Amino acid sequence: MSRIAIVGPGAVGGVVAAWLEKTGRHEIILCARRPIGELHVDTPHGSWTARPAVLTAPEQATPVDWVLVTTKAYDSAGAATWLKGLAANGAPVAILQNGVEHRERFAAFLPAAQLVPVMVDCPAERIAPTSFRQRGTAKMVVQDDARGREFVGLFAGTPIEASVTADLKSAVWRKLCTNAAGVISGLVLQPTAVMQDEHIGELSRQLVRECIAVGRAEGAVLDDSLAETVLQAYRSAPPDSINSLHADRLAGRTTEIDARNGVIVRLGRKHGISTPCNQMAVALIETMTRGAGSAELSRR
Ligand SMILES: NC(=O)c1ccc[n+]([C@@H]2O[C@H](COP(=O)([O-])OP(=O)(O)OC[C@H]3O[C@@H](n4cnc5c(N)ncnc54)[C@H](OP(=O)(O)O)[C@@H]3O)[C@@H](O)[C@H]2O)c1
Repeated sequence: MSRIAIVGPGAVGGVVAAWLEKTGRHEIILCARRPIGELHVDTPHGSWTARPAVLTAPEQATPVDWVLVTTKAYDSAGAATWLKGLAANGAPVAILQNGVEHRERFAAFLPAAQLVPVMVDCPAERIAPTSFRQRGTAKMVVQDDARGREFVGLFAGTPIEASVTADLKSAVWRKLCTNAAGVISGLVLQPTAVMQDEHIGELSRQLVRECIAVGRAEGAVLDDSLAETVLQAYRSAPPDSINSLHADRLAGRTTEIDARNGVIVRLGRKHGISTPCNQMAVALIETMTRGAGSAELSRR
């Protein structure tokens, strides 16, 4: 039986904890900022109650076999406070977050060899502090190496589609292309239906084209057709879908704007690539979320 600690009992963490516990092969330890009870999960494959162990302070953490970090990108430093105890014996630490800078966010806290970046596509939301809804198939992709294959094995027997790729860099940049265009909903506070508009569609293409250019400069293999593929995926999604940046803005929370669009601007600058649409989106979101988003402003 593997001991798996999950740091961040939010939408992704709650769903992943419930599925891993359901295998009966793992002991699950949830690392939370506040006390939580049993988890009620509703998934396309059934609803049930999970009862993982819960820790509420990093000092309580003892070594485990695997750590899965499922906080938002902007909470990475806080998540890292758990690693001293949890990963003391060299346990691999999987980073289940959006963006392309999984390693960079944790480089100051752990040796690179312990980090396992994960491209996570898990449509889920936390509808109450201990109630979670998974809306569709969850997919995870990791680099094809020994640790990556071990990570995939954790999910054996669950409907979570975990797989390896020889080119994780391209996989995370492809996901970033989708996230980059999602800023439109976060700006206008309108669900995915807004993408049907002709002018909004062109803006989506531009945001993604900038992401493609910067991603290629970083070494990702990205096809020009992605700009259209991303737009068509938004246009065929349920019109009332709300992405997490939009949800965070509605809730007055900090957003992941730096991990989703700010990174395109920063890395574009490094390569001499102009990213005016993403730059404007970042400036507007930061201005509108000043206060909630002060952490992002101070990082620029
Ligand atoms: N949800 C999705 O559909 C989805 C899909 C694909 C990718 N992602 C990505 O997956 C990552 C996680 O997203 P999410 O939607 O699961 O976020 P979320 O629902 O906001 O959950 C994050 C959790 O982390 C907890 N947390 C923050 N700092 C902590 C700390 N120091 N110690 C322990 N727990 C801490 C938060 O605690 P509190 O409860 O105290 O706030 C919250 O429960 C993000 O990068 C997101 O972009 C999400």
